[in-house]
Amino acid sequence: MLASALILACTAKQAFTKRERTVIRSSDSLMYVTVLPEDSVILRAKSIDLGPTELRSEELKVLTEKMLYTVKHPSQDGVGIAAPQVGINRRIFWVMRMDKPGEPFECYLNPQMDSLWGEITHGPEGCLSVPPMRGLVPRYDHIRITYTHPGTLERVTETVEGYTAIIFQHEYDHLEGTLYIDRADTLFRHDAWAAERSAFNYAKPAWWPEK
Ligand code: NI
Repeated sequence: MLASALILACTAKQAFTKRERTVIRSSDSLMYVTVLPEDSVILRAKSIDLGPTELRSEELKVLTEKMLYTVKHPSQDGVGIAAPQVGINRRIFWVMRMDKPGEPFECYLNPQMDSLWGEITHGPEGCLSVPPMRGLVPRYDHIRITYTHPGTLERVTETVEGYTAIIFQHEYDHLEGTLYIDRADTLFRHDAWAAERSAFNYAKPAWWPEK
């Protein structure tokens, strides 16, 4: 019994890769946000699902808390953030629920886009990973999405509409390696954002593992 228990302990699957654990553990609460063009390998990769081990791991809690801190930080001030934007190619994002009272941020794990429908709007979008640009992007105004709830770990299906549905589409695209600039009709430089960015330090940490 002891021998088999030891073997089980030794072969237990480690949550996240060594590189992912380095990024999760070594990052400050305010994480480095990947940007074009230097982080295009990460931003352009298709992210993979979290497995059962990762879904129950302490690392996932640490990662999602740091992502939330980062998207809400005055230096970023976003309405959503996806894991590739903090250097992790896993299917995780946060969305500001502008359709709910108090506009809470909510976390979505292993999301799958079931369907998109309704009217196509051409609204302005920006992305923390594509400073300091904005663009007009055609998007559907209704989505249905299925995801793993971070609290219960159950699969939940939800229909979302309006501007919040657009944030979901933008963040979902990140998990596929797609950026809004791929879909935009028009792109323009946002001078106010460029000026704001000069007030903060966005340098990549010295310990950052490129591979
Ligand atoms: Ni973005």
